[in-house]
Amino acid sequence: MIVTTKQLFAHAYGKYAIGAYNINNLEQTMGLFEGNVRSKAPFIVQLSKGARNYTHKLMLEAMMQTADKIFPEAVFAVHLDHGDEKTCMDCIASGVYSSVMIDASAFPYEENVAITKRVVDAAHAKGIVVEAELGQLKGVEEDVTAAEHVYTKPEEVVDFVSKTGCDSLACAIGTSHGAFKFSGDQKLRYDILEEIQKKLPGFPLVMHGSSSVPPGEVARINAAGGAIKGAKGVDATQFLGAAKRGVTKINIDTDGRLVWTRVHREFFRDKPEKFDLRDPGKIFMKEYADFIYEKNCLLGSAYQVDDARAFIEKNK
Ligand code: G3H
Ligand code: 13P
Ligand code: ZN
Repeated sequence: MIVTTKQLFAHAYGKYAIGAYNINNLEQTMGLFEGNVRSKAPFIVQLSKGARNYTHKLMLEAMMQTADKIFPEAVFAVHLDHGDEKTCMDCIASGVYSSVMIDASAFPYEENVAITKRVVDAAHAKGIVVEAELGQLKGVEEDVTAAEHVYTKPEEVVDFVSKTGCDSLACAIGTSHGAFKFSGDQKLRYDILEEIQKKLPGFPLVMHGSSSVPPGEVARINAAGGAIKGAKGVDATQFLGAAKRGVTKINIDTDGRLVWTRVHREFFRDKPEKFDLRDPGKIFMKEYADFIYEKNCLLGSAYQVDDARAFIEKNK
């Protein structure tokens, strides 16, 4: 059942966070749905501009509709990750996406407000909901690079949300995209989250750049020929603390890429005579499903799906 992120957030708020997982291909789609159905978790499928351009946007959209038929137990949102205005409008018109993110966070404040408002107006007219962003994550965010963290300013959030009408807000609190998030200890600014929550009680917040980059996974990749040095991620035991502070969506992409890389490197290291892509593909789909299961247990979303479905039906 495809639902909006707003419906999912209303159930999760203050209790747990929904896993928002980026996918690009068929194997990720199958593993993602298997893992979420097995862990009985509501979830968000994130499709980035990069994913939409990797093969064809229509292929991804068709996969979402087909997965909805293959997995009738799944309760999920189809969400555009880090969209620009043009891509948001395209997704709003598609009839498949239930949620879009407009990421105008690199623009000056007033421009961010104006762009976000245009997207919100178009989305709401079609029953689609919108995530916006204030502040900037250090490093690369889709096409834009920030040299340093630009933390979300709590004093701006009420004005931004009331002027734009956005349905959720991505906040920059010290995470970053990719596998190299911290050079020393992780420094997540939960104090900023607390201030934002005080100003916007009950309003759903989003944490990007939340992969954990497990050292064991990186070690296995490197032992199988990889060269990933200095990688560090977010401590997943902090997810529930974020959820208590109003975070309802936690974005995870890099960790899934690491699973893919580990499976394929180990497979071809151990079986150099093999060349059927389905052999590592089958292992990957199972390993990715197991990974999703474990992540949902840490997010607190595991075993919430029956309650979430009933809640959504009741509040329609
Ligand atoms: O935030 C970015 C996501 O990890 C998506 O990455 O643009 O390479 O698909 P991508
Ligand atoms: P990671 O790179 O930490 O997985 O973050 C993904 C993300 O924020 C997608 O929007
Ligand atoms: Zn992101």
